Amino acid sequence: MRICVVGAGYVGLVSAAVFADWGHDVVCLDNDPLKIGRIRAGNLPVYEPGLPEMVSRNMEKKSLRFTTDWEVAVKDRELVMVAVGTPPGEDGHPNLTALWNVVKSLKASIRDHVLVAIKSTVPVGTCAAVSRFLNEDREGRFDIISAPEFLRQGSAINDFMSPDRMVIGCRTEAARQSMKELFEPLDCPVIFTDWQSSEMIKYAANAYLAMKISFINTIANLCEEADANIYQVALGIGLDRRIGPAFLKPGIGFGGSCLPKDTKALVALGETYGVNVSLFQEVLRINHEQRVRIVKKLEARLEGLAGKRIAVLGLAFKANTNDVREAPALAIIHQIVQAGGQVVAYDPVVDMKDLSPLYGFTPAEDAYQAVTHADAAVLLTEWDEFYGLELERVRELMNQPLLVDGRNLFAPQVMRQLGFHYIPVGISEEHVANSLVPTA
Ligand code: UDX
Repeated sequence: MRICVVGAGYVGLVSAAVFADWGHDVVCLDNDPLKIGRIRAGNLPVYEPGLPEMVSRNMEKKSLRFTTDWEVAVKDRELVMVAVGTPPGEDGHPNLTALWNVVKSLKASIRDHVLVAIKSTVPVGTCAAVSRFLNEDREGRFDIISAPEFLRQGSAINDFMSPDRMVIGCRTEAARQSMKELFEPLDCPVIFTDWQSSEMIKYAANAYLAMKISFINTIANLCEEADANIYQVALGIGLDRRIGPAFLKPGIGFGGSCLPKDTKALVALGETYGVNVSLFQEVLRINHEQRVRIVKKLEARLEGLAGKRIAVLGLAFKANTNDVREAPALAIIHQIVQAGGQVVAYDPVVDMKDLSPLYGFTPAEDAYQAVTHADAAVLLTEWDEFYGLELERVRELMNQPLLVDGRNLFAPQVMRQLGFHYIPVGISEEHVANSLVPTA
């Protein structure tokens, strides 16, 4: 198939690379010449394991090209897949400026029949509006498909190639057949729906995941106070097949470009339709409180943060990505700095050059430099590198061995034996001291 992917962000790049790998002829278009220049030079704008190899392999084969030129990109294409960003707007509704710019350009540059698949996460009703606009001159010229994407950053290629399901919203048999052929290599259920249901599925899935995290964080906070153990509680409830074990890891709350934005968008949708969506407002509020709670723990143990040196380990919103959009770490750093603390931060992948003056922290070369003379360390991203830390060396380097672990990376009893004052999420210090069973 001759495919044009519009947008060279996470979803666009991964889709373009995988389609090319499957043998399609793919052109990826982005309006940022700097970005396209970097990609052509082999320097991808996103950190995603496996992606650089897949992109360069297909560029060499000439099955994948990158351009900023509309005419080149859409010439003779059978399918245009739109994967531009829809960032949150002021009012909670996603900002669709980029999407509509693409749609307008499509209308101006495409004469023949073409399939247009919307991969960007868009509010319910967008595909219908796009179709009305594109087909107002000639009915049927543009065949619109809603094709939401459920991949996670950090495991994007694997998620793209082994999804739990595919959701396709379309109106014509031709679109349905083309999508069946395109996604043939995937071994998963394919659900064909109308446009609105497909758009709603994406929001509902992300809001549900967000809800699961706020739920488990609330239970974790209760465990801390009631002398219970969140590991055992999560295992005990997760084995109920109606609940399932995934997304029951307690921590510092969800971040990233999707869960916060999509939950906010559902709140905005509820307001538009006059539907009570306070459930989602509460999910967001709990998520915010979880970040405040970790700073409070630190404050309580250090009797105030003024003049204290705090090492922050990890800035990315989760491991295996360089993305700091809605990263809990940045919100936590902001609170520590506001309370008068001095933050020295380290992340294995995130570029800290611009972030450090903006958030008022000192960047460190590695974790050991970050913890040197620290009054406390806070672990905020579950990087593999942190599992491998020489903990005795960390303890020796710190002013006092206080480690607040927002990701529950270590076994509390082991940390205790190593001489740390170790504070995980969802297990009280008394519980660690008195428990007969391992806590991690
Ligand atoms: C998410 C959805 O999972 C994906 O389907 C959608 O396409 C995009 O949004 P992503 O944002 O890449 O993917 O990350 P994900 O792995 O879902 O994690 C989101 C946030 O939740 C992270 O901050 C993560 O640390 C946190 N999280 C996740 C938890 O705190 N606990 C968990 O059990 C799982």
